[in-house]
Amino acid sequence: MCGIIGYIGKRKAFPILIKGLKRLEYRGYDSAGVALINEKHEMNVYKTKGKVSDLEEFVAHKDITGSVGIAHTRWATHGEPCQVNAHPHYSSSGNLALIHNGIIENYATLKEKLKLKGYQFRSGTDTEVLVQLIEFIQDSKQLPLLTAVEIALRSVVGAYAIAVLDRRYPDQIIAARKSSPLVVGIGEGDFFLASDASPIIEYTNKVVYLDDEEVAIIRPDEELKIVNLHSVEITPEVKTVDMELSQLEKGGYPHFMLKEIFEQPNCLNDCMRGRVNTGADNIVLSAIIDHKEQLLKARRFIIVACGTSWHAGLIGKHLIENFCRIPVEVEYASEFRYRNPVINGQDVVIAISQSGETADTLAAVELARKHGAFIYGICNAVGSSIPRSTHTGSYIHVGPEIGVASTKAFTGQVTVLTMLALCLAKEKHTIDDAFYLQLVRELSLIPEKMKRVLEMDTKISQLSRIFTYAHNFLYLGRGFNYPVALEGALKLKEISYIHAEGYPAAEMKHGPIALIDAEMPVVVLATRNAMYEKILSNIQEIKARKGKVIALVTEGDEEISRLADDVIELPKTIECLEPLITTIPLQLLAYHIAICKGKDVDQPRNLAKSVTVE
Ligand code: G6P
Repeated sequence: MCGIIGYIGKRKAFPILIKGLKRLEYRGYDSAGVALINEKHEMNVYKTKGKVSDLEEFVAHKDITGSVGIAHTRWATHGEPCQVNAHPHYSSSGNLALIHNGIIENYATLKEKLKLKGYQFRSGTDTEVLVQLIEFIQDSKQLPLLTAVEIALRSVVGAYAIAVLDRRYPDQIIAARKSSPLVVGIGEGDFFLASDASPIIEYTNKVVYLDDEEVAIIRPDEELKIVNLHSVEITPEVKTVDMELSQLEKGGYPHFMLKEIFEQPNCLNDCMRGRVNTGADNIVLSAIIDHKEQLLKARRFIIVACGTSWHAGLIGKHLIENFCRIPVEVEYASEFRYRNPVINGQDVVIAISQSGETADTLAAVELARKHGAFIYGICNAVGSSIPRSTHTGSYIHVGPEIGVASTKAFTGQVTVLTMLALCLAKEKHTIDDAFYLQLVRELSLIPEKMKRVLEMDTKISQLSRIFTYAHNFLYLGRGFNYPVALEGALKLKEISYIHAEGYPAAEMKHGPIALIDAEMPVVVLATRNAMYEKILSNIQEIKARKGKVIALVTEGDEEISRLADDVIELPKTIECLEPLITTIPLQLLAYHIAICKGKDVDQPRNLAKSVTVE
């Protein structure tokens, strides 16, 4: 993970770098640092443990002048979070400074070789090895920085997005990527570079996304030059970013997470716009229409994803199997990639990822491609690595998600999976026409129903106070709501640090029931659907053991209201669309419990939003 940023031009670099780091803090926030070259060609490197705001305090009264600089916000992989391990790392002579997102896997071998040449290391990081290696190549062969970077990167195994400054040549930044994202923003006589476009759009909407093993030579007042690792020049493909600055701000909400929860009705409208056509009573996903042959002949679908996206995948399995009658497997990308899976040209792999950069999901895509599978991406970040390595796909179009705990991306992913299943089922003639019509209409009503759930925010906030001191939570659901139970538990763990487990309700009696006592809150997804009677019995079993039941029920349900300790009443919808409704109160519950506990909901400890390391 980690966020990297650079600037070169005529403006003051420091404020641009700090503001940019704050936008990238979702990628990691355990330490931060900056390197600037001032007018006297001195390089000042400042770094500190903690967040970007700590770095700002740390540099007070120090020389932060200069119109060229690089900066970094870290999520530790090699070496604990501390000042010495923070980036930028500099070479022995102090001439070079380097920032890095990714992992140099063969760093230990390279380090040993450099030690034999007399190099000494200050930090425990893989990154310091890279900057020393570049300097060693530069000095021993008297090569220009660009050539030294190319040679060094040819000997590196792993993932990197890097930017390098050489104090002696303050008019250039050399940047490169492999498997970690890097975007170059093209201003007017100046350039920006960052892990994503969010720190750049304030200055320019013209960007170039670097591809793997590409190196950018960035000099103010010159054209951007890109080469591969063998100095062969590549023509940069300039893209226009379509992102509003307001999407990156809290817009009056105390936290991004709350803003993103409340944005969901609008996000879903954006996600369905031009796809769910109530006038024509149909759903059109262009990727399905364009690749109909390939998708119709699929023998099996395999969904690969991580975290919350994996939970969306579980719902996708129910939807696709129900409507399209194709077997679907849902795999953790991290397991799939190392499992030597049986996969071939008759398989369709669906890769789900909010960021489009998750290293394990990207690797799973590459593996599946190698085996000849057809790859369909469901991503949010436009232009990110996964959409660029798939055969086709559908963006979820929910706008940038900044809170580390995923909310609107989850409902966006479930919405795309619903549209995908319905659109494909129609093409395959595996769905009844009347039911299809009913679903198309009901799907278009979901955003309005979500708004009604969001009106319960105050009630959920009051309810949350009771549970602030709980040490464990159980979340139970069945069918379409089982993955929602997993997601509800994950949200609570991520931001409140309360241990929580999601379980299929009927499995409770095979273990978790042993945990239930008067201290144990159990959230039960108990809406009126085909599973209602079964869930009712599960609630009886919990109550018989004095567990505290918080039940999510359908409006007007009296039976469960009598039994449960607390109920949250939700608007009725068709069973397969329920996750889009039942998820919302669980997001709010997790949010409010975390707030009551005084936790940092947008940047929970140890987590990062974009996991670009495996
Ligand atoms: C991290 C984030 C989660 C996210 C997961 C997968 O763990 O904190 O919120 O669900 O990565 O990320 P992706 O971008 O691939 O959906």
